[in-house]
This record gives sequence, C-alpha cells and structure tokens, in this order.
Amino acid sequence: MGAIPDAFEAFVAEKDGDGVTRGVRRLTAADLPPGEVTIRVAWSGVNYKDALATVPDGKVARISPLVPGIDVVGTVAASGDPTFVPGAPVIAHGYDLGVSRHGGFAAYARVPAGWVVPLPDGLSLRDAAAVGTAGYTAAESVATLEARGLRPGDGPVMVTGASGGVGGLATRILLARGHETWVMTGKPAVAERLRALGVAGMVGREEAAAGEGRPLGPERWAGAVDSVGAATLPWLLRTLRRGAAVAASGNASGPAVATTVFPFILRGVALLGIDSSQVPIDERRALWGRIATDLRPLGLGDDTAEIGLDELPGALDAVLAGRADGRWLVRVGA
Ligand SMILES: NC(=O)c1ccc[n+]([C@@H]2O[C@H](COP(=O)([O-])OP(=O)(O)OC[C@H]3O[C@@H](n4cnc5c(N)ncnc54)[C@H](OP(=O)(O)O)[C@@H]3O)[C@@H](O)[C@H]2O)c1
Repeated sequence: MGAIPDAFEAFVAEKDGDGVTRGVRRLTAADLPPGEVTIRVAWSGVNYKDALATVPDGKVARISPLVPGIDVVGTVAASGDPTFVPGAPVIAHGYDLGVSRHGGFAAYARVPAGWVVPLPDGLSLRDAAAVGTAGYTAAESVATLEARGLRPGDGPVMVTGASGGVGGLATRILLARGHETWVMTGKPAVAERLRALGVAGMVGREEAAAGEGRPLGPERWAGAVDSVGAATLPWLLRTLRRGAAVAASGNASGPAVATTVFPFILRGVALLGIDSSQVPIDERRALWGRIATDLRPLGLGDDTAEIGLDELPGALDAVLAGRADGRWLVRVGA
C-alpha cells in the first residue's frame, strides 16, 4: 500500500513570539492530519496565500506549526477509499490545505477523499502544478465571465496583475480562447513576453490611479479579470463597458476598495466574486476537465521556474514584495 517512510522532509512555518520561523524539518506519518487519501507529493506551487501563511501578520495560518502549500499534485501512496488506488495521479488544492491542515510543502500530504481530483487526461503532473490554485482561479474567472455571456469578439478583456499566477494564467486562457486580451502589469520587462504571446495591448500599474475618485471613466473593457484589488478594482469598474463584468478574486495590492455606485447604477456593470477554495468537489473535478481541454492555458508551463523546499523563503518573500514573474513550481518528490 505504498508505505510511507519513517521520516520525510517538510517546509514548516511556526509562530515564534511575534515572528515566524520557517525552514525544512523532518516529519513522520503521525504528524499528518486524518483523511482517507495519503498523497506522495510530486509538485506544489508558490501562491500569494502561501506567502501570507508564513508571515506574522498574514492572517492565513490557522495552526502552528503549519506545513503551508495550498497546492498538492502527486500520486496516491495509500487510500482508505477504493476510488483512489495507490499510484493514481491526483490533485488536491484549497479547502483547508496549507491553512488549518498541513499542505503541499512536504513529501507526503493526507486529505479527505472528497477533496481529491483525479488528474485529467491530457495534463501531466507538472502541467497540473503549473496550473495550480492560480490557474484554477483564472479558469473559474474566465468560465464565470463567459457563462454570463462574454464571447470572443465582444471587445477587449483586461487582466490585471498579469505577471502573477492568477493574472498570467487568465491571460493565457483568454488568449487560447480567442479573446482580445489586454493586460495591466507593473513590470515593463514582462511586456515584450506578453506581446509575443499575442496580448493586444497593455497599461502600466500606475494607470489605476488615473481618474481616482471620479464616478466613471471611458468605456473600455468588455470584461475583466482582477486579482489585485485596492485601487485597481474601482478603476476597472469605472472603465468597464455598459453591462460588462469583472471577475474579482484577489487583493495583491490591498483589500480596501473605494468605489462609487455609479458604475453599477449608470452602466449596469457587474462585480462577480470568485472563491476557488470552497468549490464543491464535483464542480472542481469538472472544471479541471475543462482546464485539460477547452480552458487549457496557451503555452502551459512556459512561464514557470522550479525550486526545492529549501529555496522557498526567497520565493515566498518575492511574491509578497510583488516580484512574482510567472509561477514557481516546488519540486517536492518529482
Ligand atoms: N479568490 C480565490 O479563490 C483566489 C485564488 C488564488 C489567488 N487569490 C488571490 O489573488 C491574488 C493574486 O494571487 P497570485 O497567486 O496570482 O499572486 P502573485 O503570483 O503574487 O501575483 C500577484 C500580482 O499582482 C500584481 N500586483 C499589483 N500590485 C501589487 C502589490 N502591491 N503587491 C504585490 N503584487 C501586486 C503583480 O503583477 P504585476 O507586476 O504584473 O502588476 C503581481 O505579480 C492574491 O490576493 C491571492 O490571495 C484568490
């Protein structure tokens, strides 16, 4: 039944007075939480939420010590549920992983069977890690906009935080589906790479401050995907076209959003909230099936870099500082 070794490596964050100590330690199977499926972790990824789980004021970690890592991709090591046979490739992400129970920054993870997604045909384990929570959230954002009526050819669709995980993968999904895709980024160096991918236009991060406080701006976007929040979300609301919507999932530049009601009551725009962490498992499995097919990001895996557990501190700090550029994949047991 895929025996678990006596001890294995894990990256652990533990409260220490007013601070948090972070580093690689040895854990045993007894340290893992209860659950039917034990996964031999091949890959995890670095998400903004993982970085917040390792800093004192991050408001993400609910237990200490905690193995962060909201993404788990690997193979079944042992299972008390006959649906999941040892050796089967699987994905688990969100729910309480890396928040109130140990997550993917360890050689083994244990989860309830009701959280497990069988790896869909057409995706490798590395592909699934390159998608991760960020890409899943991006796919949910695009699917939500399209379910509301957005179609390729409707006009420019704006993606903010384009160098980041959610933004980068939303950009690639929209491009693959034929949308006229525009991006906002704070990193001029990213611009050329995105243009080569087929991005139609881009604006700098500072643009979000343009017209701040005004009720409405020029009608530009047929739709938008936002993971930045703060001043960026109100800017999107006042520059959406009549009847258009923004799918909002994040707050990389801050949670406080100051908007007037005018975009809603004078242009009928819509603010669609995206929460990928608690999606019911049947919907989650179905959306992963689409990520392997019609929602597959263009050039999946191109914008990734691989790191080991011992390199996590640098990547986590870079994410918090807004220095993300694509996705860091954490090579755990691959
Ligand atoms: N609702 C959900 O289910 C869900 C799921 C996943 C993530 N999220 C949230 O979505 C947000 C993005 O997550 P992510 O994993 O994509 O993060 P990420 O990889 O770190 O990307 C965030 C991007 O936001 C942009 N940004 C703008 N202002 C920033 C600032 N002041 N500090 C840092 N970044 C700034 C940067 O892109 P540019 O330089 O290109 O502007 C950065 O690359 C986070 O708030 C995360 O918690 C929510």
